[in-house]
Amino acid sequence: MALFLASMLVFASGTILFLKITNVLYRVVDWVPTNVVDEVHTYAGFVISGLAVIHIYLNWPTLKSYFKLLKR
Ligand code: HEM
Repeated sequence: MALFLASMLVFASGTILFLKITNVLYRVVDWVPTNVVDEVHTYAGFVISGLAVIHIYLNWPTLKSYFKLLKR
């Protein structure tokens, strides 16, 4: 759930930042403070990096079995 929520935060904040720097839909995202969205994007990204390592560690046997299937 934490990995999913952090991913949603990175996706939403990244989209808002993209709209801001490209001036697309400027009025829709104008009210959102850029520095806050920027920080959310950066730190949620760090959270994903850490959780991704734990997620892969916990699911390592299953992940390894996918490659065994390819060898057959
Ligand atoms: C946004 C990123 C991700 C989310 C939210 C997510 C979520 C989940 C969830 C909810 C499960 C089920 C856990 C369980 O059955 O106990 C799962 C299983 C798994 N995930 Fe992820 N995942 C993400 C990214 C990844 C990535 C990038 C990989 C591969 C490198 C990966 C590999 C796996 C594997 C191998 C399993 C086990 C599947 C199985 O038991 O059949 N996941 N993931």
